[in-house]
Amino acid sequence: MKGKLITFEGIEGCGKSTQARLLAEYFERRGKEVFLTREPGGPQISEKIREILLSNENEEMLARTEVLLYAASRSQHTGEWIMPAMKDGKIVISDRYYDSTLAYQGAARKIDRKVIDSITRFATFDIKPEITILIDIPVETGLSRIKRKDADRLERESIDFHRKVRRAFLELAKEEERYIVIDGTRSIDAINKEIILRIEERIIP
Ligand SMILES: Nc1ncnc2c1ncn2[C@@H]1O[C@H](COP(=O)(O)OP(=O)(O)O)[C@@H](O)[C@H]1O
Ligand SMILES: [Mg+2]
Repeated sequence: MKGKLITFEGIEGCGKSTQARLLAEYFERRGKEVFLTREPGGPQISEKIREILLSNENEEMLARTEVLLYAASRSQHTGEWIMPAMKDGKIVISDRYYDSTLAYQGAARKIDRKVIDSITRFATFDIKPEITILIDIPVETGLSRIKRKDADRLERESIDFHRKVRRAFLELAKEEERYIVIDGTRSIDAINKEIILRIEERIIP
């Protein structure tokens, strides 16, 4: 495929949505065609699954149901939106992708890594991000940024849960060369500048 897939990962409130948007704007200024999207979500079917996943009414959801719903949402998102955009040569930026499943459902909810890997390969048609930006930040800082009354089902998890997620992302970053780890405690502008610099080192279009 001609296009590139760049993903953003990290705990809640680390700045993924902010930085994904700023990166998209940067590429657009450079005259590139960009497709910005997010998970869970994307096309209509995936967004409907997102509602089920994040709804506080669904507290009885089993971990394996959660894994399968994320995979279902992701397969529709990948097949209907991400792959066609990549075939068109666009730079696809996704705010979260399958590494979030490894961190949240794998490390934090203890679902077997091999099971997740296999479901993920199926759901993603085996595509992989070229670059994954991990915005790393202490859990307390992240959660304090998003503190609000209407926190969704995953945001309401304990501090310890989010610590496991943070640790899992850092482990993944060590395993996978596609990772760029960014210190997320600095200003929005400083982080944006570093992301652009680190990406430019890797992508010479
Ligand atoms: N580097 C930063 N410093 C301070 N606040 C930030 C920073 N990055 C993002 N924020 C703010 O923190 C909140 C969460 O950011 P967001 O990008 O939505 O995080 P995420 O998508 O990772 O949950 C937003 O209100 C955003 O404006
Ligand atoms: Mg976000």
